[in-house]
Order: sequence, then structure tokens, then C-alpha cells
Amino acid sequence: MRVLSGIQSSGKLHLGNYLGAMKQHIELQENHDCFFFIANYHSLTTIQDPTLLRQYTLDVALDYLALGLDPKKVKLFRQSDVPEVTELAWILSTVTGKGLLERATSYKDKVAKDIAASMGLFSYPLLMAADILIYRSDLVPVGKDQVQHIEMTQDMAVHFNTTYGREVLKRPEPKLNEALVVPGVDGQKMSKSYGNAINLFDSPAEIKKRIMGIKTDSTPVADPKNPDTCNVFALYKLMASPDEVAALRERYARGGMGYGEAKTLLWEVVERTLGPARERRAKLAADPGCVEDVLTTAGRRARSVAREVMEDVRDACGIVTAKGTHG
Ligand code: TRP
Repeated sequence: MRVLSGIQSSGKLHLGNYLGAMKQHIELQENHDCFFFIANYHSLTTIQDPTLLRQYTLDVALDYLALGLDPKKVKLFRQSDVPEVTELAWILSTVTGKGLLERATSYKDKVAKDIAASMGLFSYPLLMAADILIYRSDLVPVGKDQVQHIEMTQDMAVHFNTTYGREVLKRPEPKLNEALVVPGVDGQKMSKSYGNAINLFDSPAEIKKRIMGIKTDSTPVADPKNPDTCNVFALYKLMASPDEVAALRERYARGGMGYGEAKTLLWEVVERTLGPARERRAKLAADPGCVEDVLTTAGRRARSVAREVMEDVRDACGIVTAKGTHG
């Protein structure tokens, strides 16, 4: 099974990104043919500062590798190392009704959040569909907010195939992450745009400060507390082992434990994951040539798959190019 997913390089990744997506990506590497790419063309819809975009692109690679993505098992590459996706996005746009894109809720959400309503933002789903279809991907692990984009991709694949009377593009399936709710420090869904995130690679002191600042209710220390309405416990549940979770649940019920203590326990389990990753990241960051190598090598391999699919696509629609144009 070929699994593909794109990660936007548009800022620091946080615990919500890790628990909601990255962790699953890293687990999938064990028994799937994984293509993971850094969606830097997509990032242009929100980041228009070249220095920042370069930095964020590298950061995504460092973050993933530090957290355990194994470049021997998966292809981790830059979207822009397979420029054919932009060609496919164009071709898809010619078989896609404008109405389909107009129904995209994520476009409307982004515009409501004051992101500029550029044509790129509007046609974002076309580029995303091209990303998926150009590798004949079977499965696309995504969060709930992206499922509509996958359904649009399915429509575009079918539409292309019926228009040209050939089964050129493969209809992918979404692989929904289990419905995880990762709360931020204020109890709302953790999100960069809400300012409530715990970033993965901030300094340990900063992460600790964020954790100690998680919003809790004012139940006195001596009283029993309800773990199921507590933001600290909700995060603990996502990070700790089942035994640890059961033990903390018991302590909430018993009373006599302040939230400060629960936060310290949370900090310990968070640090258990992030501490070693932080060290690996520092080593990788000190060797940019090695990371560049990983991205380049994977990008070449991904591109050779994309080139074959594009030959079929061009052939199906009668686009002729001079010999050698496409390598
Ligand atoms: N739109 C995705 C997100 O914001 C990122 C993305 C771009 C993607 N291309 C993709 C995800 C292709 C899956 C497949 O999270």
C-alpha cells in the first residue's frame, strides 16, 4: 500500500501536530510504502518571506527526522523537488468544475481567518489532489479537516479518467486519524493560530512554563478532582502509558493532589518523548548536508515515480512535448 501525506511548512510544529499526525506518520513507516513531503508550494499561500519559508522547510525535515522518521524506510522530500505536481494541478483544473472548489470549507475558513483570498488559496485543493494522484497513492492519512480535500481528489481522478476514457489516475482513500482532541493550554483545540500551543522544540524551560500555565479549575488541593474535565489529564492521557494514566486517574479521584503536581507529572512524560528528540534534532541541525542529502535522494525517487505517471497523463490528454523536455 502506498501512503502519502503532505506537511505544511508554515511555522513551528506543536504537540497537537505530533499527536494528531506526525506520530501516525512515523508508525506507518514500518509496513507501508510511505511518501511524505514538505508542502512548500502550498506554504506560499500564507508565507511570503523567502528566508522564513526556507527556514520552515528545513525545520519540518529536522522535526520529523528527530522524532523518529527513518529516511531508510520512507521518502521524505520537498514538494518542489517534483515540480511536475504543478503541471498536473493545471491539467486537473481543466477537468474540475469551479463549483467543486467553491464548496471547499477550508478555503472559507482560511479567508474568515484573514488569510489573503488569492487564486493559490482557492486552488489549493487542485495542487493537493495533484500531490496525491501523481504518485498513484492508495492511502492518505489526514485529519478530519482535510477529508473534504481527499473527496475532491477522488472526484478529480474519476473525472479525469472518464473524460479521457482511461484508468490513468488512481482513486485514493483517506485514512482518518483516530478522532484525537488535543487541547491547548487554554482547553481549546491546540492550534498555532489560537496561541495556545506547546511547541515541540522550544527550550525545555519554555515548554515547562507552558505546561505549568495550563488552565485548570479552582478545586482545592484536598478535594477529589474530575480527570475527565481536566486539560492536564487530557494531555497526560495522550502521552503516558496506560498504567501511568490509571495511576493518575486514581490520584485525581482520591484528592490531596494539587494541579501543580499533575502538571509536573505531565511535564515528565512530555520530556520523555521530547528530550531525546531535542538531542537528535540538535545533531541533525549541526549537519545540514546530511539533511539535504536525505531530501534530495528521496525527492529524486519520488520524481521518477511522478514522471512515469505524468507520461501517461500527457499521453491521455494529447499534450506533446519535445523529446528530453522531461528528463
Ligand atoms: N493540506 C494539508 C494540510 O494542511 C497539507 C497537504 C498538502 C497534504 N498536500 C497534501 C496532505 C497531500 C495530504 C496529501 O495539512
